[in-house]
Amino acid sequence: MEEKYIIRKIEEFVHRKLHLEGSGHDWWHIERVRKNALRIGEVEHANIFVVELAALLHDLIDDKLPVTVRLDVNDVECYLEEIGIEKAIAADVISIINVISFRKNTPVSQLTLEAKVVQDADRLDAIGAIGIARTFIYAGSKGNILYHPENHEGTDAISHFYAKLLKLKDLMNTDTGRSIAEERHQFLYQFLDQFYQEWNGEE
Ligand code: ADP
Ligand code: NI
Repeated sequence: MEEKYIIRKIEEFVHRKLHLEGSGHDWWHIERVRKNALRIGEVEHANIFVVELAALLHDLIDDKLPVTVRLDVNDVECYLEEIGIEKAIAADVISIINVISFRKNTPVSQLTLEAKVVQDADRLDAIGAIGIARTFIYAGSKGNILYHPENHEGTDAISHFYAKLLKLKDLMNTDTGRSIAEERHQFLYQFLDQFYQEWNGEE
């Protein structure tokens, strides 16, 4: 089956599953990750077909998705077989979405280039203006508060900046990803500065 046709089918499949998802894993997250993954993948000379498939499918088995939407990895495997994707490509894609979804701390040395690319694209969507917006929609969807000034390791949205967002820049796998991350990382600090100034009435 032609690659373009396969991509179109998977796009429709993922869109059907995620268009109403309300915790930051909606279709537009997938679309942004795909776009950035292709951008990084091209510069890094990755296999673009594998990158695009993995970017499209990367969140479907995530344990943060509601059970009503989440798929089992075997279901994704069967689906890829059903639509006629070559076995070796399907295996590459499945291994990438496993690494990304289960947040296994897989050593970078064990990641394929395509896994590195998709992971970088996913991480980019967790920082910068979009990452900030996603943090607050995620916190809201879980009923967590905005900020708790006395508890820096709490479940409030601002704590998540320190628990995860500010660490992502140094975890980027590729030079291309790292260079895009730089500005987004600085923007997190700008946001936090302004946030604390307003919080303290110092602006
Ligand atoms: P993805 O799978 O797309 O990398 P996650 O599933 O880890 O992202 O989280 C989805 C979004 O919600 C990300 O932008 C992430 O930073 C944010 N998020 C995850 N956990 C929390 C949390 N405890 N508080 C606020 N935001 C969170
Ligand atoms: Ni994601």
